[in-house]
Amino acid sequence: MRLVLVGPPGAGKGTQAEFIAEHFGIPKVSTGDIFRANVSGGTDLGRLAKKYMDAGDLVPDEVTNAMVRDRLAQPDAADGFLLDGFPRNVSQAGELDDMLDEIGAPLSVVLDLEVEHDEVVKRLSGRRTCKKCGHVWHLEYDPPATPGICDRCGGDLYQRDDDHPDTVRHRLEVYAAQTAPLIDFYRERDKLVSIDALGAVEDVTERAITVLTPHQD
Ligand code: AP5
Ligand code: MG
Ligand code: ZN
Repeated sequence: MRLVLVGPPGAGKGTQAEFIAEHFGIPKVSTGDIFRANVSGGTDLGRLAKKYMDAGDLVPDEVTNAMVRDRLAQPDAADGFLLDGFPRNVSQAGELDDMLDEIGAPLSVVLDLEVEHDEVVKRLSGRRTCKKCGHVWHLEYDPPATPGICDRCGGDLYQRDDDHPDTVRHRLEVYAAQTAPLIDFYRERDKLVSIDALGAVEDVTERAITVLTPHQD
């Protein structure tokens, strides 16, 4: 399955990506995670991306497209993948189409996670991420047993630099202006399935698997 997740910041893309990728046995490719790994590794790509990420803006398309092209050329992505956070505008969607044309493998489906504005703000303000394994927690909705420590691996939890209220507001504006048009773009191409992403994490995963299963090759 070649799958794309779309939805506003805080919709639960990263949370669901982990479970969906595991269920279908495909690698999860999260552009935000790859950028953050480069920021913490102090690479040139990380230094460049950090300026845009801290402001809540998109990293330039040329940089992002080249990074995704490299990642999808890895052997583990040959039989399918889940993209979380890419494409993020219509131009990136065109680039993804080109990449898929080159390997003669069409996109299977785009899953749109629908969550209203007030809920995403609550989700982002309480988010804590594990430094070691990347698992996403929430102070109120999904707290770890010991505050500040990941239940899964014992790693320390941190708050993302772009989860401060002013940056969140800007990220939501960027989503509305640049990313939301992808919903019509993929609907017109008959690739879009939408689910209600409110409710318990496990319930949302179950809804996702139900609508995605018919799109398995
Ligand atoms: P990215 O990392 O992709 O951030 P985002 O799109 O803003 O999305 P988030 O990761 O904030 O939200 P999410 O939907 O993954 O929610 P999560 O599962 O964590 O991008 C960051 C930056 O990188 C961008 O701003 C940009 O600069 C750059 N970038 C990335 N991709 C790019 C691209 N293609 N082009 C250019 N630039 C790019 O959940 C949020 C919280 O809610 C968590 O605490 C979680 O525990 C909780 N939660 C999840 N589900 C539920 C539920 N059902 N009920 C209650 N709580 C829940
Ligand atoms: Mg995410
Ligand atoms: Zn962890």
